[in-house]
Amino acid sequence: MNITFVVAMLDEAQPFIDNFGVREVPDFFSPLPCKLYRARLDAETELHVVLNGQQHGSDLVGCEPACVATQAAIQRLNPDLVINSGTCGGFRSKGADIARVYLGNGVMFHDRRVPGDDEWGTQALGNYDVWNGTGALAERLNLPVGKVTTGSSLDMQPCDLQIINENGGELKDMEGAAVAFVCSLYHVPILLVKSVTDLCDSSAETFEEFRRNLARASEELCRVNVRIIEELRVSGLGLRDNEV
Ligand code: ADE
Repeated sequence: MNITFVVAMLDEAQPFIDNFGVREVPDFFSPLPCKLYRARLDAETELHVVLNGQQHGSDLVGCEPACVATQAAIQRLNPDLVINSGTCGGFRSKGADIARVYLGNGVMFHDRRVPGDDEWGTQALGNYDVWNGTGALAERLNLPVGKVTTGSSLDMQPCDLQIINENGGELKDMEGAAVAFVCSLYHVPILLVKSVTDLCDSSAETFEEFRRNLARASEELCRVNVRIIEELRVSGLGLRDNEV
């Protein structure tokens, strides 16, 4: 089983990079800035962590780097499962709390406003399939689930909120739907694991709240990812059927 994490920021991934002992493979994706860390966990399980990499001196976040990294990861690594692991904004009104970790039971875009007929609107929202083992995994690990909603900005405009609410969005991030889009093209299952750094319906300034909670949320993310990998190694949850 080949499990490949796609992660935007090193800070989000560092706790589980340390935990799993994955090693960087320098220049694997050159000339792309994406970085690969890998480890063989046992005879059956190969673990990859792919980071978007950096530009302008900071980690690349957002949809475009997520698409590039996911495409490169799928083409070069041929994963059985892509896990998009990262942080998100939550909504207290929908039950979220800081450092709570969710599995995504759906994923959409909230900032692609394309007027016209149903087809264009449907394409704009995305609403891609997530891995069909997500629900079973959430039950086994007793994890909450929620719909991931992706946009290119950390802030949220009133029109974003309207689309989020009209379409049941709960976990606001900047990569999930982009990773899911590429996975949908290649028919690779995707699992979304999201840890809350900030509350979109609180009065706190979003970036400040994000920065303040990033380390704690990333530690919780790591704890959940460790449990996920353990569960996949033990039960497979149908993924081994895909093995060639
Ligand atoms: N990542 C962490 N918090 C976020 C937010 N509020 N919006 C988008 N992406 C995020």
